[in-house]
Amino acid sequence: MNQQDDRVRAQALQSGFREVFGQDPDGVWAAPGRVNLIGEHTDYNEGFVLPFALPQSTYVAARRRGDGQVRVHSLFTEETAEFALEGLRPGSVDGWAAYVAGMCWGLREADVAVVGVDLLIDSTVPHGAGLSSSAALECSVGLAVVELSGTVLEPLALARIAQLVENDFVGMPCGLMDQMISMLGEAGHAVLFDTRSLTPTLVPLAPTGDAEVLVIDTRAPHRLVDGEYAERRRQCEEAADTLGVTSLRELSDTETEVAELLAPLTDETLRHRARHVITENRRVSEAVDLLRDGDLAGVGERMRGSHLSLRDDYEVTVPEIDLAFDVVSGAGVFGARITGGGFGGCVIALAPLGVHQQVEEAVTAAFAEVGFSAPAVFRAPPADGARRVL
Ligand code: GLA
Repeated sequence: MNQQDDRVRAQALQSGFREVFGQDPDGVWAAPGRVNLIGEHTDYNEGFVLPFALPQSTYVAARRRGDGQVRVHSLFTEETAEFALEGLRPGSVDGWAAYVAGMCWGLREADVAVVGVDLLIDSTVPHGAGLSSSAALECSVGLAVVELSGTVLEPLALARIAQLVENDFVGMPCGLMDQMISMLGEAGHAVLFDTRSLTPTLVPLAPTGDAEVLVIDTRAPHRLVDGEYAERRRQCEEAADTLGVTSLRELSDTETEVAELLAPLTDETLRHRARHVITENRRVSEAVDLLRDGDLAGVGERMRGSHLSLRDDYEVTVPEIDLAFDVVSGAGVFGARITGGGFGGCVIALAPLGVHQQVEEAVTAAFAEVGFSAPAVFRAPPADGARRVL
């Protein structure tokens, strides 16, 4: 990310804070959204993911206060919420402020002596596009509150608290990928994360500078996201149970043919779900090796395989996403796929330099032809994770 950008945002937030709260903030913190290069719906199956952090971030200006109250104003909704730290529990705050209240609750549950704070929040992460605006909000608020409470937490510990907040306070049964990458992202790199051992490994993304990742935000409205996500998760658990393993990851690590592994599963839907998870984990491992070898066409093929598996076996795509994938795949890129949980959101493409415009024109024309809202196409250089900016 661009430090210049960070500074400009932080200064704007600082003066905004003065206007809203009448005093200077103690500091400004930021945490990014993400795209996932490959490894989808594997993180709650103890599998592998390969995301990277976006330059787009959520910024939080914060000031400590002495009375155990939290006041938070959001510049993206122009709303203020206020709550007492004492008495916070799941269900006590809802809407966007639940992520903020949830982080205070989660940190207290983790024995951090959380102090009251005034918070002003702004974000450049597109909202509702499957780019983890909620993880960016959780991690930026978490970082600010931890520091103002005079504590230090390992980035991964904070990510796990944020995941717990999603699961238990907000009610979204997500895995750890989004919060992990928002905390641990590094410019120029994707992060291979083994969600069983919780080990992150940096993988340089196109170190020779001959490729870039493009994001195609389809702007398709998210549909049924949370219910469908929870159902997929439950189906994976049931499949693992039937196959006698604690997680589907265990089956990805073997050399055995997938069809043979799946033979005991008689339920057709569960077979499809499990096949996606097992093959996706294998694709992530292959993609990492291919990236290290500089074989971008090979990485692109794995991305394509991932998309088809998410479309046909995991069934999390929607017409806008599949159209974007088809069009972009034919526009001179190495490979493309849906990124994130699905049911709307974005397609990403690994592309040689110089095809950005071609991709944008092709997808814009195709969307106009069938009457879909105009998509947005932008470059996604891998950026840094959560940080203090002022
Ligand atoms: C959402 C969740 C993640 C992950 C992805 C799918 O982004 O928050 O934990 O499961 O979906 O890969």
